Amino acid sequence: MPSSEQIYRDNSEMQYQIGLETIEKLKVESAGKILDVGCGDGRLATRIAEKYPRGKVTAVDLSKNMLDLLKKTAADRKVANITPVQMDAMNMTFTSEFDAVYSNFLLNFLKDHKGFYQKVHDALKPGGLLIVTGFQHMPECTAFQMDGEGMVELFQQPRFREYAMRVNAGSENWTPVLKTRKMLEKIGFADITAETRDIVQQFPSVDAYFAFMQLGKLQILNVFPEELKIAFYTEEKRVLAQKLSAMPADQQKAALTMTLPAMILGARKSN
Ligand SMILES: C[S@@+](CC[C@H](N)C(=O)[O-])C[C@H]1O[C@@H](n2cnc3c(N)ncnc32)[C@H](O)[C@@H]1O
Repeated sequence: MPSSEQIYRDNSEMQYQIGLETIEKLKVESAGKILDVGCGDGRLATRIAEKYPRGKVTAVDLSKNMLDLLKKTAADRKVANITPVQMDAMNMTFTSEFDAVYSNFLLNFLKDHKGFYQKVHDALKPGGLLIVTGFQHMPECTAFQMDGEGMVELFQQPRFREYAMRVNAGSENWTPVLKTRKMLEKIGFADITAETRDIVQQFPSVDAYFAFMQLGKLQILNVFPEELKIAFYTEEKRVLAQKLSAMPADQQKAALTMTLPAMILGARKSN
């Protein structure tokens, strides 16, 4: 059975594979300037820099740790045409500088997608290319739905009730293809293309499911005082495990299968 760490690694690997695939879609002149937003450890930014040895890659990430990893990756691979910049994607101040903007799986970390695409539009030269990937909506997973229903039930309990209204489940972090298209057109992009990919993963247990969802859970549970946070989390796990154990084994397995619907978007800044 895969551990939750393995599930993370698999998920990351699938995002990387989509990233490699989308690099193929990046087409600029050989000395072009490319911006990679939310570059992470640079595993893709360095590939882009290698693809365009005469070009210049600017790699932006919020996290200093990630940029340190990127510097190491670039040094190991002897890639010199890459400039790391620590910056919030939402506060980018580039103006008509880049031939292409590339962003692999940053999107769902950002609350204001329209604001992000506006910054990207500002950063591109007229006619410049945008290649962006992200998840278009919530994971499709029966356990996830059951967990959500369980949380709603738990919020009815008097000790949790007063916090229910303060929870921000982060639903605005998802923008499906159609809505994104409209957003991009409004901002001033043309030649919009969209492809979808499903990332499918199997959780071996409720614990593995919770371990994978931990980051999102912690954001949701931040509204609670510490002792109630633990109580809620423990109760949430117990309720989900109980619901699943009432199902036949094959249905439990199906319920713990998650499909993450990813999208690959391409667009050009209108002249
Ligand atoms: C899922 S990782 C993807 C990394 C890389 N693009 C890849 O595919 O390997 C998302 C990255 O976005 C960064 N990030 C999150 N919020 C950000 C923000 N507001 N501005 C810039 N980077 C951000 C994170 O630090 C992380 O490195």
